[in-house]
Amino acid sequence: MDRIRINGGRQLNGEIRISGSKNASLPLMVAALLTDQKLTLHNVPRLADITTMLQLLGQHGVEIGAAPGENGHAHATTLTLQAGKISSTTAPYDIVRKMRASVLVLGALLARERVARVSLPGGCAIGARPVDLHIAGLKAMGAKIDIDGGYLVAKAPKGLKGARFTFPKVSVGATEDLMMAAALAKGTTVLDNAAREPEITDLARCLVAMGVPVEGIGTETLTIQGVDKLKEATYSVIPDRIETGTYAMAVAMTAGDVELLGGRLELIETVAQTLRSAGVTLEQTERGLRVHRTNGALQGTDVMTEPYPGFPTDLQAQMMALMTRAEGASMITETVFESRFMHVPELARMGANVTIHHESALVRGVPRLRGAQVMATDLRASVSLAIAGLAAEGETTVNRVYHLDRGYERLEEKLAGCGADIERLKG
Ligand code: EPZ
Repeated sequence: MDRIRINGGRQLNGEIRISGSKNASLPLMVAALLTDQKLTLHNVPRLADITTMLQLLGQHGVEIGAAPGENGHAHATTLTLQAGKISSTTAPYDIVRKMRASVLVLGALLARERVARVSLPGGCAIGARPVDLHIAGLKAMGAKIDIDGGYLVAKAPKGLKGARFTFPKVSVGATEDLMMAAALAKGTTVLDNAAREPEITDLARCLVAMGVPVEGIGTETLTIQGVDKLKEATYSVIPDRIETGTYAMAVAMTAGDVELLGGRLELIETVAQTLRSAGVTLEQTERGLRVHRTNGALQGTDVMTEPYPGFPTDLQAQMMALMTRAEGASMITETVFESRFMHVPELARMGANVTIHHESALVRGVPRLRGAQVMATDLRASVSLAIAGLAAEGETTVNRVYHLDRGYERLEEKLAGCGADIERLKG
C-alpha cells in the first residue's frame, strides 16, 4: 500500500492548478444513463472514484470514451458517455460498497428502465449514512421499493410521475437522485428544501443542456419538467471547491503565498470568511485565487459545518488541522455527519490538543506539531493529516494513501511543485 512521506517546515509558494470537481463529476456521469444520446464532459478529474464510476456505468452498458483534456485542462479528462442500451439494471454490491455515490444510479435507471436493483451501501467511516430520503422521494413519484438480499429493488411499471416532495433534511445525494428521476418522469416535479451545493447547480445546468427544463437553480426549491427524451450535450465540470479550500488551508498552514489556478472565490465564500477571521488573505485574480499569510500568527476561529452555503463538512478536518497551530482556541462543530472526527486521535499523535464533546471539538492551538506515522479512514481526514505534516517538525508518514487518491489528483506533485518536501513511497 502506498504511503506519503512529508518533511515538515517548508513554506508553500508558487502555483497549484485546481482540478475539476469530483463531487460534481460523479452525478454528471450518472446523467448519461438518462438518454441513448452522447454526453460529453470536460474537466473531469483523474481520480479513483471516477474510475469506479466508469466501472459501474460500463457494467450498465454505457460506452465510454476518454481523451486528455483541452482548453487549459491539460491534466483533466474529457469523457464521452453513451448509454445506447442499458444492459443491466443492477448496481452490484462490490462496486457500491467501494463508493457510496454509486447509489445515484437508482433514480436514473428507474426512470429510464422502470426497474432498478441497487445494493444498499451500508455504513461508512464518517457515519451511518442512510438512503431513506432517496427512497421516500422516489416513492412519492410512484415507485415501489423493497429491500431484498441487501439490495433496494425498485419498480415503476407505468413509469415515474412528477410529484411535490419536501426533504425533511437537506441531502446532496438524494436531491441529485430525484432531479435525475424527475427528468424522465411524467409531468412536473417540485423539490422543496433541496440541497443548494454548487455541484447541484452543475447537475441542473447539465440537465438543462440535455433538454430538461429546470427552474429555481441555486435555490432550495427546484422545479423540474419531465421530458420523453433527453438530447446530446456537452458540459464542463466546475473547479473543485473542496480541493480549493484544502490547498488554501495548506498554504495558510505554512504561512506561504500560492495562486490556486482556476480556483473560484464565489464557490467558497463562507470558507473564505472563516479563513480571513483566522488571519489568511484570499483574493480573486485573473487566473484563480491567491492565498497568502505573511503577517502574524493564525488566530483561533470557530467553525460549524452546515449544508451550502454554510461551511462544508468536507473541509472540517482540514480546518481543524489548521487550527491546531493557531493562537487561542477554536470550537469546531460538525452538524452534517455524526462521526466525522476520526482524524482527532491521529492529530493528537502529532501533538495537537483537541477535546471532543459530542458534536463539537475544542482545539487549543499548540506552538509546534511533531511528525509521526498516521493514517485515516476517509479522504478528507487523510488530507488533514498531510496538512498537519506540512507544518510539523520532522517526518510524517501518511498511511493508506488510497483514501487520498479517491479525491485528490496528484496531491504530492501539486504540493512538491510549491516547495513542499513530500514524496509517495510505493508498496
Ligand atoms: C455528498 O454526500 C458528498 N459526496 C460528500 O462528500 C459530502 O460530505 C456530503 O454530500 C455533504 O456535503 C458526493 O457528492 C459524492 P448527504 P451525500 O446526502 O450525498 C443524511 C467527500 O469527502 N442522509 O448530503 O452522501 C446523511 O447521513 C464526500 O467527498 C439521510 O439521513 O451526503 C448526512 O447526515 C464524503 N438520509 C446528511 O443527510 C438520506 O437518504 C447529508 O448527507 C441521505 C442522507
